[in-house]
Amino acid sequence: MLLRPLDIDPSHCLIDGRWRGPASGQTLPLINPSDGSILCEIARGDASDIDRAVGAARAAFEGPWGKATAVERGRILQRIGGLVVENIDELAQLEALDVGKPLTQARADVVALARYMEFYAGSVDKLHGQTIPYLEGYTVYTLREAHGVTGHIIPWNYPMQIIGRSVGAALATGNAAVLKPAEEACLTALAFGELARRAGLPDGALNVVPGLGAEAGAALTAHRDVDHISFTGSVSTGRLIQRTAAEHIIPVTLELGGKSPQLVFDDADIDAALPFLVNAGIQNAGQTCSASSRILVQRGVYDQVVARMAERYSALRAGPALSDLSVGPLVSARQKEIVEGFIAKGADLNLVARGQVVTDAPAGGAYVAPALFADVPADHTLAQDEIFGPVQVIIPFEDEAEALAIANGTAYGLVASVWTQNGARQMRLARALRSGQVFLNNYGAGGGVELPFGGSGLSGHGREKGFEALYGFTTLKTVAAYHG
Ligand code: NAI
Ligand code: MG
Repeated sequence: MLLRPLDIDPSHCLIDGRWRGPASGQTLPLINPSDGSILCEIARGDASDIDRAVGAARAAFEGPWGKATAVERGRILQRIGGLVVENIDELAQLEALDVGKPLTQARADVVALARYMEFYAGSVDKLHGQTIPYLEGYTVYTLREAHGVTGHIIPWNYPMQIIGRSVGAALATGNAAVLKPAEEACLTALAFGELARRAGLPDGALNVVPGLGAEAGAALTAHRDVDHISFTGSVSTGRLIQRTAAEHIIPVTLELGGKSPQLVFDDADIDAALPFLVNAGIQNAGQTCSASSRILVQRGVYDQVVARMAERYSALRAGPALSDLSVGPLVSARQKEIVEGFIAKGADLNLVARGQVVTDAPAGGAYVAPALFADVPADHTLAQDEIFGPVQVIIPFEDEAEALAIANGTAYGLVASVWTQNGARQMRLARALRSGQVFLNNYGAGGGVELPFGGSGLSGHGREKGFEALYGFTTLKTVAAYHG
């Protein structure tokens, strides 16, 4: 199979500007989660492919790419963004087949990828150093410099968006990148590599090596010539990566998901809140790091919110990605098993509504009917652990203090939202919530590329997205000149 219209063979890696088979000659099957069929074979990259990719990145960093000005890098990124937009139909189709993402959601991810390129293209030439007032006879200034070779280990849930935010910011600041996409979904990563090549990105500045986490991923993290690792995925893999990176003392950015709450107070505009309460839980079939899996509702509006969310859940339909319903399949049979395991653990809970899997959904697809639980104790596993599927729990609270305690009462801290008309309460909670982002009377704010994003606690550390990411993908040098 060739990826149309780019005509690249997905069983290849992009290393040093050329497509080549993995050194071992081995491939892995890529599954279409909508029906369980094999879409194609992908490269099973391993340590030797990673080593070649890191070598190519180092050479690019020490060569013309490393010497390119911010304006030149920005122009190339701008061209990549343009090519992404030109190929929106094909990219969305690839992502839908590969991830199981409904087509409309896949198209939104293509637009986001293009926006990241545009945003970082336009912002990197505004990344200034400083001059620092100092002793008489000195001039002191700072330089923002690229790390060098950056490794990007990304998951399968939003490949294009995560490539955009991490690879986009890394390239904009002049790093040379090695991208290890997830074994479950890597077609748009390959397509992106080809589009970047066609946009004039120098050979080696971006290398794409698909493969298993324990092989290609582990090799990239352990490689001695990698200067920075950006990782999005599970807590357990994040822990391994931080530990491995500690061996050679390199910085890591970890984005590890969450258990993000929405707090709904008695005075909230419930009509406005409802679509956000549900969509934030079922978008991408709940496989979203910033999914809102906990809905905390004050007693005065509790019954109303439960009933109205249940009504929406009953109308949800899960089906093949290309049918473009509100919910697609999960990414894999394994992910479906994990999510069904959680739903089974809720057998003693109040399951107030379930959506349906459409009757003509292929039997081999990884479908899970969305599930909504109410009256869930805040310490229950369904209210504490990341499920990563179309499952939400509703938890009642009496007052602001209790809402805050429940909201902050998990090991995570990625995103939170507060629905209330009370301005003072908005301000208090925005400060008190342990969360990398807080939304007031909305959730996600449209996911804008401009908004710095990242977590605390088990959600990870470091910030991507927005201008802030440019600091993370650079290091600061202080120059002190004595001139008398
Ligand atoms: P994972 O963390 O194992 O996979 C994410 C990426 O890490 C993939 O590219 C994988 O190949 C790579 N990887 C795996 N093991 C590695 C290793 N030893 N060294 C270096 N790289 C490695 O996540 P997985 O298994 O796909 O999903 C398990 C759970 O993780 C999900 O149920 C969900 O709860 C969470 N998750 C969170 C995500 C987020 O957006 N924060 C994304 C994906 C998963
Ligand atoms: Mg894994």
